[in-house]
Amino acid sequence: MPKHYEHDVLIVGSGAAGLALALHLPDHCRTAVISKADLTHGSTYYAQGGMAAVLDDADTIASHVADTLAAGAGLCRPEAVEFTVRNSRAAVEWLLQQGVEFDCRDKDDGREFHLTREGGHSHRRVIHAADATGKAISEVLVEKALAAAHVEIFTHRVAVDLIVEAGRCHGAYVLHRQSGKVDLFRARFVVLASGGASKAYLYTSNPDGATGDGIAMAWRAGCRVANLEFNQFHPTCLYHPQAKSFLITEALRGEGGLLLLPDGTRFMPNFDERAELAPRDVVARIIDHEMKRTGSDCVYLDISHKPADFIRAHFPTVSQRCLEYGIDICKQPIPVVPAAHYTCGGVMVDTCGHTDVQHLYAIGETSFTGLHGANRMASKSLLECLVYAESAATDIASLLDKVELPMAAPAWDESQVTDSDEDVVISHNWDELRHFMWDYVGIVRTDKRLQRAMHRAQLLQGEIKEYYSNYKVSNDLLELRNLAMVAELMIRCAISRKESRGLHYTLDYPDTCATAVDTVLQPELTDKV
Ligand code: FAD
Ligand code: SIN
Repeated sequence: MPKHYEHDVLIVGSGAAGLALALHLPDHCRTAVISKADLTHGSTYYAQGGMAAVLDDADTIASHVADTLAAGAGLCRPEAVEFTVRNSRAAVEWLLQQGVEFDCRDKDDGREFHLTREGGHSHRRVIHAADATGKAISEVLVEKALAAAHVEIFTHRVAVDLIVEAGRCHGAYVLHRQSGKVDLFRARFVVLASGGASKAYLYTSNPDGATGDGIAMAWRAGCRVANLEFNQFHPTCLYHPQAKSFLITEALRGEGGLLLLPDGTRFMPNFDERAELAPRDVVARIIDHEMKRTGSDCVYLDISHKPADFIRAHFPTVSQRCLEYGIDICKQPIPVVPAAHYTCGGVMVDTCGHTDVQHLYAIGETSFTGLHGANRMASKSLLECLVYAESAATDIASLLDKVELPMAAPAWDESQVTDSDEDVVISHNWDELRHFMWDYVGIVRTDKRLQRAMHRAQLLQGEIKEYYSNYKVSNDLLELRNLAMVAELMIRCAISRKESRGLHYTLDYPDTCATAVDTVLQPELTDKV
């Protein structure tokens, strides 16, 4: 039998954003956290480079803000940038209080942090735990959340859709992956912290599950989304037939790593004076250009000129993983290619995470806060997750006594659907979607390719809609449905931007317009299916 749960707050997602929010809520706030796989399955766990803040006396808030605005190519919201950067030190201090251990400059002196540098940052300001910062953060937050009396954890549960009535969110329908039943979760407040949508692309650094569920659910619930054309491609993912999605951290370039062509020639200084430390959009585009020009399958990232002890101490995860594929990074360059990495756009929110639907919040990679503009600077996502988790929790805590639990909502109706006997349709459509997004909505775009992609996205959506109405839901079907919807929103945003800016580069409009404008999409009634 489907179950019925009631909480003060329902959080969809157990990454840095979701768990930090749960831990910031007061002890009397009955909180549910749902996660569609294990608690550590999101992108947070895999974060490598670190978290950018203002921690060094030589650095300033003004300089960090200026770098962020420059990388964002005119589209950052200054108030979001200022808000996030100002709160960066507090976010680091909160993580330290929770027990996260970051690398120190001198291991005997636990006070002075080792700060690394990444693309677009004019200072060393990235605090990190070697090259496994996400793991260090995630493990501590998971341990704390499991021990918190006010937090109830539900793993292997997939939010299907939000329940919205008269403009207010009342909860969500949630698939229990083991039983196949769809349970009802009612809550005073619902928070989408469900990560990004980079699985829309064939090659991505993201783990399975980054399928834009929160963005699609919010859109169907009536929320505006913005700037989804800005899909960030990380310049350096390991190029090896057996290495699925393995990232080579940008911190490797921050510590002196050089990008080389297959013949060993360095190329970045020919294009940009910031060379290997230019912002990501620039580096990824130049790599793509050089690969096409030379007809090579990859380029190379070389740090072997540094002492082996230094490399192993700073990059234990990367060196170990490369060694498993027969690449000794202390002696040879690493073959790398760009891959989809981060969804800069998302559900439109303010600095408290409020969406357009009452009592519905969005935080973390699912949201669009305006912090990243047209191109996210390295190590600014974990920071955004933590800063907005805190502000949304404070807002919810201040409203807790004023908001009633919503009235009963109808149970999930599956009287009209049967078990699917054609799951091949789902896997086929998954493959097709990720292929055409890679080929037509990639690093370099044209109107013609975008129109082709749109045509295919709409055909797929039609098929998926029919499938969804006739068969019982499964995780794969839900992910495909969400990904196809978000892919269409990405393409719509890309088509409407008639210029090249930041991560959106089109051969048809290579110049940047004088005025920077967000691409905002508003759902119509017909979009909510
Ligand atoms: P995630 O951590 O992705 O968590 C999403 C959660 O939502 C998961 O628990 C998932 O199960 C759940 N979920 C999703 N859909 C549903 C659903 N329908 N129902 C129930 N649960 C659902 N950023 C940095 O700042 N610094 C870095 O060094 C860095 N390195 C990175 C390295 C890699 C390899 C990757 C992939 C990303 C990196 N990023 C980095 C980006 C950053 O890690 C992510 O943007 C950030 O962790 C996102 O956190 P989140 O809490 O929003 O979502
Ligand atoms: C990396 O370590 O290169 C990833 C950093 C990020 O995505 O912010």
